[in-house]
Amino acid sequence: MRIIVCKDYDEMSQKAAAIVIKELILNPEMNIGLATGSSPIGLYKNLIDAYEKKIISFKDVSTFNLDEYVGIERTHPQSYYSFMYENLFKYIDIQEENINIPDNDLSRIDELSTDYDKRLLGKQRDIQILGIGKNGHIGFNEPGASLSNETFITELNEQTRIDNSRFFGSLEDVPKFAITMGIKNIMYAKKIVMIASGESKAKVINEAFNGAITTEVPASILQLHPDLVLIVDEEAASKIENIDFLNRL
Ligand code: GLP
Repeated sequence: MRIIVCKDYDEMSQKAAAIVIKELILNPEMNIGLATGSSPIGLYKNLIDAYEKKIISFKDVSTFNLDEYVGIERTHPQSYYSFMYENLFKYIDIQEENINIPDNDLSRIDELSTDYDKRLLGKQRDIQILGIGKNGHIGFNEPGASLSNETFITELNEQTRIDNSRFFGSLEDVPKFAITMGIKNIMYAKKIVMIASGESKAKVINEAFNGAITTEVPASILQLHPDLVLIVDEEAASKIENIDFLNRL
């Protein structure tokens, strides 16, 4: 794995964007796996900037989002569908038909996971962007989720609902369920770029990369990925032990 320690959130965002921009210049038809949350917003701003400067185009790019809440409409301001349009898609030339976000239509609940797996089939992501939850979740693979899962509907962990209540105003308004790519889907990406910033992520980042590979810390499975780049600010990196050793793995 490669660990890049940055001085702050802005530098982390620039470094992550540089990896995506380089790949996109080499491969204009790339498939990219996208994440939500506060972590990738700066990265998306950098991508929009590069698009506006005509350095890159998303005309032939396909995107695959990790997850979506179940129990709110897609039009809800806090849905990940809304998040992606507000923070990236409405500013760039991506084609609507190339955007893939897990559907959360309750009337089709039994088909949603297999439908998303069909969309993912044969579309290996060239880069998968990942954040990490304080409890080690990736996408919405909460502690205890099977490492062999493909897309599935999951109940959200209490810690995750508390963390995400900052976007909803109150805990009661945070959905209790979500649909997410499984670990198996995530691991299938050619390259994984994880970004994390702030002191609140420091403990889990160390557990994920220096601890045992365990379903209790879902991100720990990434230790087995052949092309993993971890981009962290100084605060999120502050508890990583053996950083030089990890960088040589
Ligand atoms: C959510 C998302 C994750 C994300 C995590 C961390 O729960 N499902 O994909 O990585 O939050 O979010 P943040 O970047 O806001 O800390």
